[in-house]
Parts: sequence; C-alpha cells; structure tokens
Amino acid sequence: MFSHSKIEKNSIIMLVGILLVVSIGGLIEIAPLFYLESTIEKVKGMRPYTPLELAGRNIYIREGCHNCHSQMIRPFRDELERYGHYSLAAESMYDHPFQWGSKRTGPDLARVGNKYSDDWHREHLIDPRALVPESVMPGYPFLMDDEALLRDPSGHLRANAAVGVPYSDDMISNAATDLRAQADPDHDDADGVTERYPGAQVRDFDGQPGAPSEMDAMIAYLQVLGTMVDFSAYKADDNLR
Ligand code: HEC
Repeated sequence: MFSHSKIEKNSIIMLVGILLVVSIGGLIEIAPLFYLESTIEKVKGMRPYTPLELAGRNIYIREGCHNCHSQMIRPFRDELERYGHYSLAAESMYDHPFQWGSKRTGPDLARVGNKYSDDWHREHLIDPRALVPESVMPGYPFLMDDEALLRDPSGHLRANAAVGVPYSDDMISNAATDLRAQADPDHDDADGVTERYPGAQVRDFDGQPGAPSEMDAMIAYLQVLGTMVDFSAYKADDNLR
C-alpha cells in the first residue's frame, strides 16, 4: 500500500508507470500485425498501379480530390446498395498514402472504375456542370493541356518499391515507356504494359492523340479504381489465395 501511494503522489513516477503499461499493451496489440499473414488477406487480382495510373493518382492528390471524395465503402447496407461490395484491406495495400477518407462532399470513388466512359470523365472533369447541372465540383480543364509527368516516373516506382509495393526491376526500368504506351494503343510497347501489369487498360483515355496529358493519367487512374478484384467470384471465406 505504501509504495502505491508513492506512485500516486509523484506525477513523474506515475507518468513513467503509465508509459510502461501503455507500451506493453501497444506492443501486444500492434507488433503481431507486422508478421501475421492474415493482417491483409491476399486477394486475387491485386497488382501495383501502372506508371500512368500512378501519375493520375499523384494528380488526384495534388488537386485535392480527396477533400471531397472518399475511397472506402463501409459494410453497411446503404453503402453496399449504392456503391457495391465493401472495400477490402487488400484493395488499398499498394496505396501510399491510402485515400480512404471520411469526407464525402461528392460520392465515394472506390469502385468508380468502368462505371462511366472515358468521354464522360473527360467532359465531367473539364466542366462538371455540363453533365450534372447541380454539381458543386470544380472544373479541371487544364488537365487537358499539361503533359502527364513526363519526367522519368521510375524514381516514384522505386520509392513505392522501398515501402513494399512489388515493382520489379523490369517495371522500374520500363516505367517511362510504359507511361507513354498505356495511353497509345499503337505504341511499340503497348503489349509490354499488359504483360507487366495484367489486366491494364491500354487506350487513348483523353481522346487527344500525342503525348499523354494529365487527363490521360487521371482517367486511367479513375477507370482502374475498384476493378482489380473480381467480386462476382470473390467470397470472404475462401479469399482466393
Ligand atoms: C468541392 C468538392 C469536390 C472536389 C474538390 C472534387 N469533386 Fe468530384 N464530385 C463532387 C460532387 C459534389 C460530385 C457529384 C456531382 C457530380 O457528378 O458532379 C462529384 C462527382 C465526381 C465523380 C462522379 C462519381 C459518380 O460515381 O458519379 C467523379 C469521377 C469525380 N467527382 C472525380 C473527381 C476528381 C478526379 C477530382 C479531383 C480532380 C474531384 N472529383 C474533385 C465534388 C468534388
């Protein structure tokens, strides 16, 4: 009893005691997450973003789209009916940083891929009110003019690889060519893109020939969101390892 009152009366000893107890609790809860295999269930279909999609993601972050759009569907009936299958941890395992968010001025975008045509996205991004008269989303017409990060994107792939995204040396050394080829089906390397990134969509996303614009990158990114996992075949129990 005597030693306990000593702890209670001395704030420094109390503080050290609290830190000790909290860090034991923290270690027991957090440390296993780093080596447990089931922390993020492996799900068939997930692949790293292509260089063009990754460039689009960078523009998405740069323009602050995340201030109005979340990318996480919660497991509630209203969300499932509106957006589709709830988001899986694996679907954002290659997102650094993730774009979950909780602020929804606009709709959640986790499954917006393949919902609209490329033309719809282009017109909507240039002038949202041309398609949705009551929209409060700002227009981003300049995405058509600017070239999509034509600086060599390989450094960005390498940085992602350093934090665990499985970009191979082949992907990194071909990043600059892949970025151009994905937006140009006639490019010599167009097949290389689908070889390195199975299921990648290769086409002229912004309908404007020539070097890929930021609009190409942005639409390529939007069109891949939520499309990597085939939910018609997915069951939470047998997670398609
Ligand atoms: C000020 C808030 C705001 C910002 C910033 C914003 N949006 Fe939106 N967005 C909205 C609203 C509101 C809607 C719904 C009305 C509409 O379709 O325009 C919307 C709709 C959309 C849709 C259609 C979604 C669907 O399922 O119908 C897409 C795609 C989209 N936004 C992409 C973007 C991208 C990409 C950016 C960044 C370049 C962005 N938004 C920035 C508010 C915003």
